[in-house]
Amino acid sequence: MGRLQSGFRIIAVHCFLVLVLSFFLLDGSLGVNLEGRYLLKMKGNLTDSFNLLSSWDSNDPTPCSWRGVYCSPGDHYSPPAVTSLNLGSLNLSGSLSPSVCKLGSLAFLDLSFNKLSGNLPAEIGSCSNLQSLKLNNNQFDGQATHRIGQAPVSADPELLQQQVLGTAP
Ligand SMILES: *[C@@H]1O[C@H](CO)[C@@H](O)[C@H](O)[C@H]1NC(C)=O
Ligand SMILES: *[C@@H]1O[C@H](CO)[C@@H](O)[C@H](O)[C@H]1NC(C)=O
Repeated sequence: MGRLQSGFRIIAVHCFLVLVLSFFLLDGSLGVNLEGRYLLKMKGNLTDSFNLLSSWDSNDPTPCSWRGVYCSPGDHYSPPAVTSLNLGSLNLSGSLSPSVCKLGSLAFLDLSFNKLSGNLPAEIGSCSNLQSLKLNNNQFDGQATHRIGQAPVSADPELLQQQVLGTAP
């Protein structure tokens, strides 16, 4: 009887610890916010040969101080959100992760003049707030860039296609 009770107590204590731990993990207070995690996921598919994105530190509370990352100021009601990613000419290779589209306030995405390859994620054509997408001068799969150029977009599709295919200034 006593042994059974103490067994239950041990289980209860373990459950409590797991609960507390998962609270901290879900709360994100042990690292960068959700947008930062989306960016780190995106970085996971990139090869940064010259370590130019070394400021992308998962211990920062927000990604707003990271190289090439620009945020809205934020206020009492909303935290700062990523509005612009300026990652042109950083000698980046690898592929573009669709997780970039999870940045709900992203308006400007510049990945031009890198060595990115593979397929463009289909999501990129319909990132909700994207106004400007510069992907020219990379090595993306040609058919995919053509398809993206014709995808429904919030930005002017013709302009987007020109930017993607690199035919615009
Ligand atoms: C890195 O990129 C720049 C501009 O695209 C280029 O001039 C330079 O040669 C590249 N460096 C290497 C080592 O590839
Ligand atoms: C990104 O990397 C993950 C893990 O290595 C992989 O499963 C996924 O297919 C990659 N995504 C792209 C778009 O390359």
